[in-house]
Amino acid sequence: MTGRTRRYEKRYDDLLGLFANEAAFTEIARTRGAEIAYRVDEFRPSDRAGDVIFGTSMLYPGRVGDEFIFTRGHIHAVSDRPEIYFCQSGHGVMLMELADGTIRTEEMTPNSVVYVAPHWIHRSVNVGTEPLVTLFCYPADAGQDYDIIASAGGMRDLIVDDGSGGWTRIPNPRYRPRVTGSGAA
Ligand SMILES: [Fe+2]
Repeated sequence: MTGRTRRYEKRYDDLLGLFANEAAFTEIARTRGAEIAYRVDEFRPSDRAGDVIFGTSMLYPGRVGDEFIFTRGHIHAVSDRPEIYFCQSGHGVMLMELADGTIRTEEMTPNSVVYVAPHWIHRSVNVGTEPLVTLFCYPADAGQDYDIIASAGGMRDLIVDDGSGGWTRIPNPRYRPRVTGSGAA
């Protein structure tokens, strides 16, 4: 991507505490902590509500124990702002969750598009063996809130190796349901 206004990279060391298997993470970080897990290039023309931010994300393949590597994930700080992701290459899963713990997954394969609707927490997971490359686009005033995941002990489900070359979803043992406002059951 040319003309970007920002690039950021996350190394394994930056992902401390995010994976369920802490012993597996420690072992990886010991030798590969400085290795880049993912890289985001973005073009942010302004922060105005009517503008859009777009860019590309490259999430390298990997696993921590049985859990597939993922981006940290967030909800938009202005939570009714949506996002679209176009998968250019690789094999991924968009893991989405509402504040009440409702979960949705959408598989990402080359030339597929995922719509992340307003109010959904979202995280990309690389379930393949190649880099997962996506193009994303979202309203310029959306912002990101990462704490909604951290304060709940992660997302409700983990995306793990199913033992036969695919992926499956299992409950996250560290998950603490959020106390949500009116409308929560
Ligand atoms: Fe987002």
